[in-house]
Amino acid sequence: MAHLIMADQNRSSSAASKRILERAYALKTPDEAKALYGDWAVSYDQHLEQGLNYIAPACIAQILDNVLADRTASILDIGCGTGLVGAYLVGHGYSAIDGLDFSAEMLNQARSKQIYQKLLPGDLNTVLDIPDQTYDAGISCGTFTHGHVKADALDEILRVLKPGACFACTIHREVWQSAGFDSKFAQLMASGVAELESMNEQPFYENAPDDGRFCVIRRL
Ligand SMILES: C[S@@+](CC[C@H](N)C(=O)[O-])C[C@H]1O[C@@H](n2cnc3c(N)ncnc32)[C@H](O)[C@@H]1O
Repeated sequence: MAHLIMADQNRSSSAASKRILERAYALKTPDEAKALYGDWAVSYDQHLEQGLNYIAPACIAQILDNVLADRTASILDIGCGTGLVGAYLVGHGYSAIDGLDFSAEMLNQARSKQIYQKLLPGDLNTVLDIPDQTYDAGISCGTFTHGHVKADALDEILRVLKPGACFACTIHREVWQSAGFDSKFAQLMASGVAELESMNEQPFYENAPDDGRFCVIRRL
């Protein structure tokens, strides 16, 4: 009987997770996104990890690990949310990790995990309160997606990275063109601001079709 109750609970948790993901993919504006994450912060990890088998944080942390040998490197986790990516980075042996997010509720969840040295409130669609050339690397997972961040945020992200630093990020396939990431990448490469290290299409969720791009760009 206990296993039937568990199976039932898992099914309803998975259905709730799918409903909230549909809400996330229907977002049109950053204000709508902020409201969603305010509501979602406490149950986010459970919905993403147990309900949806979210593998993107593990994958992007591995991709950064492939290009960043220095375990003492300072890393900014951009759109850090509750800290899923930070936890994988710690698993790879990094320790100098800061997180940035515009949702106070998501930052509170991240704070409780004691992964990050600093947690910075900040909106990626504005100028960030971070000096030029601060970080040895950047990482971002699930933040370049529907109604979240404009492609011009890449200028600001690259500004706070040191020359030679890598930025590993996911970009959802449905915003790659519509939010201008394709042309922004082309512009950054053509102007000599950054170079493309790698780009692959992969699933964000276990056993799903390819949800988007996993990219590494290097600031020149
Ligand atoms: C799908 S969650 C991803 C969180 C975490 N990186 C992960 O993979 O679990 C997207 C995160 O981006 C943040 N975010 C969305 N738009 C933002 C913006 N304009 N500025 C800063 N953070 C933003 C949200 O608050 C949320 O925590």
